[in-house]
Amino acid sequence: MITGKTNVIGVIGNPIEHSLSPPMHNAAYDEMDMDYVYVAFRIEKEDISKLIESAKVMNIRGLNVTIPYKTDVIEYLDEVDETARRINAVNTISFKDKVAKGYNTDGTGAVKSIEKYTTLEAKNVLVLGAGGASKAITFTLINNNINKLTIANRSRENACKLIDNLKRECNFDNIEFIPIGEAGDILGDVDIIINTTPIGMYPNVDVDTPIETGNINENHVVMDIIYNPLETKLLRQARKNGATTISGTNMLINQGITAFEIFTGKTPSYESFEKALLEQLK
Ligand SMILES: NC(=O)c1ccc[n+]([C@@H]2O[C@H](COP(=O)([O-])OP(=O)(O)OC[C@H]3O[C@@H](n4cnc5c(N)ncnc54)[C@H](OP(=O)(O)O)[C@@H]3O)[C@@H](O)[C@H]2O)c1
Repeated sequence: MITGKTNVIGVIGNPIEHSLSPPMHNAAYDEMDMDYVYVAFRIEKEDISKLIESAKVMNIRGLNVTIPYKTDVIEYLDEVDETARRINAVNTISFKDKVAKGYNTDGTGAVKSIEKYTTLEAKNVLVLGAGGASKAITFTLINNNINKLTIANRSRENACKLIDNLKRECNFDNIEFIPIGEAGDILGDVDIIINTTPIGMYPNVDVDTPIETGNINENHVVMDIIYNPLETKLLRQARKNGATTISGTNMLINQGITAFEIFTGKTPSYESFEKALLEQLK
């Protein structure tokens, strides 16, 4: 039951009505018998500064941040964790003693998901896309000692901006750009493939795959960060070719679990998050 003592946590974004975070976090509070509630707030960009100050005075314990505010929110925070600062995106804010501190759990969410299936150390990784999610994921991959990173993207300019930033922030030079249309040809030299483009996302589920899948084989681990559908056309074809496949639900759950830990100091079960998420996606 929600009482005067209940701790409030939330997520901000715009639009926000379809956020899957409230059901995941609330399911875990129920399972763990914690006096917390997690709600969604639709926020306009010009109100972000007021929002952070209001959250402090209202004693809100934490906020997740989703599209389109992960970078805009940074200037209004009191502290930003080193990883989030280098990625230049925050998806989790903790409030303690009126100090708002930002973190980024997207990259660790992705890496944890891959590490359930394979190690990252010394691997050659191909990342499709160079947008916001790619930024967090590529940064974290490099911090986990991969050997080589190839970024395949539609716009060379956007990919090169990301590559320059990664080289500067991570002191890591083994990064290459390839036009996304050519990425299917280099798979012989790749161990792990991660799709961060929206190609294959609902409702365009059967239209296209982000790369030609003919050369994907049983030696590849393929993760698609799209979570709707649960199995994208890319993952379906990769699975048929014998590859190990990882659905985007894994990253969504793992980034949420790390945020939950930051907010409450407790670790929820993967299963409680997964069950709530799958019920929503059904
Ligand atoms: N599972 C999770 O937890 C999680 C977390 C975050 C995001 N996501 C999903 O990840 C996807 C990307 O999100 P984001 O925030 O990174 O988006 P974003 O910042 O808009 O970046 C999108 C990227 O995809 C590329 N792209 C878009 N449309 C394309 C097309 N038709 N053909 C080729 N490339 C295309 C863009 O290329 P250009 O640079 O050429 O424009 C860009 O590199 C979304 O589907 C989102 O739902 C999942």
